[in-house]
Amino acid sequence: MILVLGATGKVGRALVPALLDAGAPVRALTRDPARARIDPRAEVVRGDLDDVGSVPLAGVSRVFVLTSGHGGDSAARETALAAAAARAGVAHLVKLSTTGVHFGQTDPITLAHAHAEQAIRGAGPAWTILRPGAFMDNRRFWLHSARTDGAVYVPEGDPASALVHVRDIAAVATLALTTPGHEGATYELTGGEALTPAQQVAILGDALGRAVRYVEEPEPAARARMLALGWPAQAIDGTFELKRQSAGREDVVFDTVERLLGRKPLTFAEWAREAAG
Ligand SMILES: NC(=O)c1ccc[n+]([C@@H]2O[C@H](COP(=O)([O-])OP(=O)(O)OC[C@H]3O[C@@H](n4cnc5c(N)ncnc54)[C@H](OP(=O)(O)O)[C@@H]3O)[C@@H](O)[C@H]2O)c1
Repeated sequence: MILVLGATGKVGRALVPALLDAGAPVRALTRDPARARIDPRAEVVRGDLDDVGSVPLAGVSRVFVLTSGHGGDSAARETALAAAAARAGVAHLVKLSTTGVHFGQTDPITLAHAHAEQAIRGAGPAWTILRPGAFMDNRRFWLHSARTDGAVYVPEGDPASALVHVRDIAAVATLALTTPGHEGATYELTGGEALTPAQQVAILGDALGRAVRYVEEPEPAARARMLALGWPAQAIDGTFELKRQSAGREDVVFDTVERLLGRKPLTFAEWAREAAG
């Protein structure tokens, strides 16, 4: 049985069906099964990582470890989870981290991942670390204003980025969770090409079938927009600090997805067509 944490999130929504399609039995964790809308082939369980005793680990052989990067102490959650998994006899932990750890970033989100990686490596079970760069899905944030104003507002200085599709992350995670040979491996995961924000907006406009203006806005205005859309202040601070530290590295392309999957990474144009639909 494979336990998937974060099953209702961006990566988890791609990973649960990918594992099931590969023939693996899946237990999907959520704090609220009634609202989770998880693939009905999975066993859906209630649990909260803030109370690790509530996470049903009996009978689990592998765990996909993902915690929300914002709010709470995610390193403490993952440390407690890894220890509980070891006690329950779990054989393999596959942790979702970030490329920021590869680059030695010291923003709070990246540092929490670095600490959690250490805890996972030292817990006892075999481990695999997946370190994706920025997700294409982050650009869902652009869809509303693209449709309503015909414009996308991007914080000044946002760098070119080799955005990765969550289905590619899920495909690599499925490989690590269902086939041997990935124990002790750390994989950096990006898309196949770095695109500037202006290029991304143009591709999104093509997918939406309408002209979409690219508008750079100063950081205070970008923060106000995120607050108005319901982002917690702490998450906005963490995101801008991470942005500052990852600028200049987000354009680095790793060939890991192609090497492991034997095909090119999914493109931003493919993502944009799906998102527009
Ligand atoms: N976005 C990026 O560009 C990027 C890049 C690299 C790495 N990352 C990393 O990716 C991770 C986020 O992945 P994601 O975007 O797929 O997640 P997400 O869409 O933000 O969803 C968060 C998930 O975490 C679960 N969750 C939150 N608090 C929980 C708790 N206390 N107990 C149990 N489950 C909890 C939620 O489940 P319920 O609400 O159903 O309980 C949900 O499934 C973070 O660690 C982030 O640092 C993100």
